[in-house]
Amino acid sequence: MELVAFFLRYARRYVHWGLLALAAIAVYSIATTAFVGLVNPMFEEVLLASEEELEGVPVGGLGGVSDDPDENSGTGFFGPLEGFTQNLRSAAADLYADAKEQFGIEGRREVFFAPTLLVLVVLLRSLMAFVSGYSFQRAGLGVTTDIRNDLYRHIIHQSSRFHQRHTSGELYSRVVSDVSKLQNAVAARLFDIFMSVTMLFVYGGILLTLHVTLAVVSLFAVPLFGFLLARFGKGMRNVTHRSQERMADLSALLTEGIRGNRVVKAFGMEEFECRRFERATRGHLLANLRAQFLSTLSSPVIESTAAVGGAVLVISAGLMIRDGRLTFGTFFQFLLVLLMMYDPIRKLNKVNLVLQEAIACSKRVHDVMQIKSDIVDRPTAPPISGLEQGIRFDDVSFDYEDTGHGKGVLSGIRLELHRGEVVALVGASGAGKSTLVNLLPRFFDPVSGQVLIDDVDIRALPLQNLRSLIGIVTQETVLFNDSARNNIAYGRDDLPIEEVRMAAAAAYADDFIMAMPEGYDTVIGEGGQNLSGGQRQRLAIARALLKNAPILILDEATSHLDTESEVVVQRAIYNLMEGRTALVIAHRLSTVVRADRIVVLDRGSIVEEGTHEQLLELGGAYKRLYDLQFHG
Ligand SMILES: Nc1ncnc2c1ncn2[C@@H]1O[C@H](COP(=O)(O)OP(=O)(O)O)[C@@H](O)[C@H]1O
Ligand SMILES: [Mg+2]
Repeated sequence: MELVAFFLRYARRYVHWGLLALAAIAVYSIATTAFVGLVNPMFEEVLLASEEELEGVPVGGLGGVSDDPDENSGTGFFGPLEGFTQNLRSAAADLYADAKEQFGIEGRREVFFAPTLLVLVVLLRSLMAFVSGYSFQRAGLGVTTDIRNDLYRHIIHQSSRFHQRHTSGELYSRVVSDVSKLQNAVAARLFDIFMSVTMLFVYGGILLTLHVTLAVVSLFAVPLFGFLLARFGKGMRNVTHRSQERMADLSALLTEGIRGNRVVKAFGMEEFECRRFERATRGHLLANLRAQFLSTLSSPVIESTAAVGGAVLVISAGLMIRDGRLTFGTFFQFLLVLLMMYDPIRKLNKVNLVLQEAIACSKRVHDVMQIKSDIVDRPTAPPISGLEQGIRFDDVSFDYEDTGHGKGVLSGIRLELHRGEVVALVGASGAGKSTLVNLLPRFFDPVSGQVLIDDVDIRALPLQNLRSLIGIVTQETVLFNDSARNNIAYGRDDLPIEEVRMAAAAAYADDFIMAMPEGYDTVIGEGGQNLSGGQRQRLAIARALLKNAPILILDEATSHLDTESEVVVQRAIYNLMEGRTALVIAHRLSTVVRADRIVVLDRGSIVEEGTHEQLLELGGAYKRLYDLQFHG
């Protein structure tokens, strides 16, 4: 039911399309009824008419109502119903007669009237089929497009923890294939269901109006027939499925036997394997035979049932025509409607499977949409425009899993950065450096303790505001398949090219960008694959420069470079840090020597802190790292 509410929320915006579709279906039903009704005058006035009839014998009209009162008298088992349907028929006949009179149709001109009307009615019916189908699709496609947009919005706003739990493949299939299946189901199948059910009722009504006894008989036969069809269909599906399973067993055995051939030989197990294989092929054979049995049996059974049904229908019709209780025209109408019922039945039969799948898909989509971000944006402090004093990590602990026991990834971190200070983080790989800097833009929230900017807990700041204060160059540079210019300006199309070029120049990227075929308009390929690692990082640095944020985070921004380009990127980085408060993680100690302060992290705790000289003198962890790099 939650799912229904979920859909209704989206459907609200497309109510007008839905109503249009409903109106069109209503007109369609009326046109269909009129179409069937016109068949009788087609016979009586056009095809079977002889001269003397034209002289003035009144014709039966739409339903082929005879004027003999006995014939349509309301007696017998279906008496009241027959009375009612007779009224309906004569009303329709009156309507038809009125129309003829209106247009002044008589004599030989009668030949034109019914066929022309028929053409008009069929045109109207086709038009309505188009209008209803299109408007329903419009609503369905609108709903699923909105769902897809919201889903993407939801996913992209989720925390890093969410993205870590859900693989990109999983999220991709939610947004792309699940929503597509939903789209197919909602836009097309739902319409089929609605239309088919409506039409089945309309056809049923027409049949009853045409001839009650005949209708009751066939309306019992039709579901029986439908049930038979459905049974065969279902049996086929089950059996096919089982046959596929057996085939999978077989393939598994086959690969084992062939790949593991040497083991089979070594143990002298050839015969054993062959017998296993024969058992499996026998299972497959049985499953296949069952499938063949059903499929070859189905059409004879269905055909003979249909033949018996048809014979019964023709015999009873013949008897009634002899008794004068039925006209040939009516019987023909009746057959026509029965045939027309086939299409909706066929559609309904197919619908179930698609619908089941769609329900599963929408459940998955809905589940993702229900996940709340664990990074809540509930600001209690006013936004700040820049950094005044500094950043403080106050007894911060963190763990990736919510166990809460043992020693976490970070524990008891106390660290202060004054405004304008460049602090370097060093430590072995896995010490927690990246984790520590990721707390600042709230990619994750600490388990305990707090991170403060100018003595305000960052959780109190608006998330957008907080992140606008921070420029980041990450370990893996993320570039988009777009022009160099748009990659640097990322999302700010209004920036003049001069500004973009200035940032690029400061990142030592201008030269190589200008050397590319279309300069700043060159598309750099997916993930920047047309660029070298150093060029990619310089683009990322230019992007961070252009953001011009007061706080800077560099996470091993030079780790993938060879020494030569590192010198260039290094210079770019010094440009970047100018006048900013920066947290720099560097693999190579040459990068960090120039920092104001160096913090050594070991297994989640700060173990040393000081300037390069101080730490060397201390002769602790930093000295060991330093020695390893320069003298190891
Ligand atoms: N997304 C993650 N999920 C779970 N554990 C992680 C994740 N990222 C890092 N870790 C673990 O946290 C510890 C610190 O990692 P990290 O901060 O990346 O170290 P560093 O950047 O110093 O190399 C490591 O033990 C690592 O295995
Ligand atoms: Mg790292």
